[in-house]
Amino acid sequence: MKTISRTKIVDVLKSDAFGTTVNVKGWVRTRRGSKQVNFIALNDGSTINNVQIVVDVEKLGEENLKPITTGACISVNGTLVESQGKGQNAEIQALEIEIYGTADPETYPLQKKGHSLEFLREIAHLRPRTNTFGAVFRIRHNMAFAIHKFFHDRGFYYFHTPIITASDCEGAGQMFQVTTLNMYDLPKDENGAISYETDFFGKEASLTVSGQLEGELAAMALGAIYTFGPTFRAENSNTPRHLAEFWMIEPEVAFNEIKENMDLAEEFIKYCVQWALDNCTEDIRFLNDMFDKELISRLESVLKEDFVRLSYTEGVKILEEAVLKGHSFEFPVFWGADLASEHERYLVEVHFKRPVILTDYPKEIKAFYMKQNDDDKTVRAMDVLFPKIGEIIGGSQREEDFDKLKKRAEEMGLPEKDIWWYLDTRRFGTAPHAGFGLGFERLLLFVTGMANIRDVIPFPRTPKNADF
Ligand code: 4AD
Ligand code: MG
Repeated sequence: MKTISRTKIVDVLKSDAFGTTVNVKGWVRTRRGSKQVNFIALNDGSTINNVQIVVDVEKLGEENLKPITTGACISVNGTLVESQGKGQNAEIQALEIEIYGTADPETYPLQKKGHSLEFLREIAHLRPRTNTFGAVFRIRHNMAFAIHKFFHDRGFYYFHTPIITASDCEGAGQMFQVTTLNMYDLPKDENGAISYETDFFGKEASLTVSGQLEGELAAMALGAIYTFGPTFRAENSNTPRHLAEFWMIEPEVAFNEIKENMDLAEEFIKYCVQWALDNCTEDIRFLNDMFDKELISRLESVLKEDFVRLSYTEGVKILEEAVLKGHSFEFPVFWGADLASEHERYLVEVHFKRPVILTDYPKEIKAFYMKQNDDDKTVRAMDVLFPKIGEIIGGSQREEDFDKLKKRAEEMGLPEKDIWWYLDTRRFGTAPHAGFGLGFERLLLFVTGMANIRDVIPFPRTPKNADF
């Protein structure tokens, strides 16, 4: 076959260089047609749209075309012609076809359109070849890029925090242990407890649940930083919003207080949503039409309105009133309760009909590092609550007072010997500061309209599932 440098299908479809010879390579979505003429829909991942390859069966030989079935990979040299069909600019009249790889129709699992998302999860290694997952993963890339751009343009530094750590930032005890000890022959001390002295790090170590503590160290030097990395939580919640391995973005800013923290969070999410609408238009339109007819209008409505800002105490009052008026929740709601997703969504979807930032939560249900309010009962926390999702961001102003922080850490089972380095930021040149964490996959749930978090990360890690 003649060597012609490859053009991506996204560019072919935009081109009007009719009459020129081009080369495209990709995977066959369908081949249909008559004895005389065949139409191959070819996709190379550069766009959701397929290019149509028109094949003169006699010219290329019926036998040669036989292996070109759904899933096969081919390289096509052909003449770019103006498309006769509606919707598309250009198509290709095939001159030569080389088959890179066949896909036996008896065994290739992606034969038909309309496989269920559950089924596609079982073939996560092939699902990127579907329209849906192509769209989702292109959007995922675009969101990651938008996040870096947002922070870079505002003078934030991307700071890399460790993945292996000895500290439980959130204090929830949901860490995955990292060890090289022999599980079949664990060294014990005289009390029968496992002795970590001979373990790789000489002490108990785990995968991080958050980069925040190290992020704070950096903010107290570089001013404004963000982290963007994998995060691990061994919480046994099999919900459509929880993963055991997810990605979190954590900005941390010196001299910001809770108000600036809320402003940053709101500006940040709106920027990401706007970016998606501007740069992932076709993929979002596809998902809108396919799964969720309100997706685009929901994205646009979030951009238009200011987020509601409300204290936890006021939020709980609204929920209690709803119960009195006859609304029933699965979980009880009272001052001091950790809000469940159904409560968060009630505030957002039913009561206010727009995103809500709840602040000043009871200290008992929040982490040790949050700034304590003068009432001695609440901390300067903020959770951003979103339609369809519930909590999308969790953050706070940080406790900058050394004594208060040390005392609260001890009360919550974090002795100074473990976090002396964190406490040092308050010992030396402490300053007010604030930050938050955005769950990347929760943002993607919102932007793609997908209903299950397993469908916005390529290879989900959830309880009893670590395949692929
Ligand atoms: O509210 P979280 O636990 O806050 C923190 O980890 C803080 N250290 C962040 C900070 O202030 N720098 O988690 C932050 C966000 C949540 O709002 C949620 O979007 C996401 O991370 N998240 C999860 N996403 C998927 N699966 C899970 N298991 C998640 N746990 C939290
Ligand atoms: Mg939280």
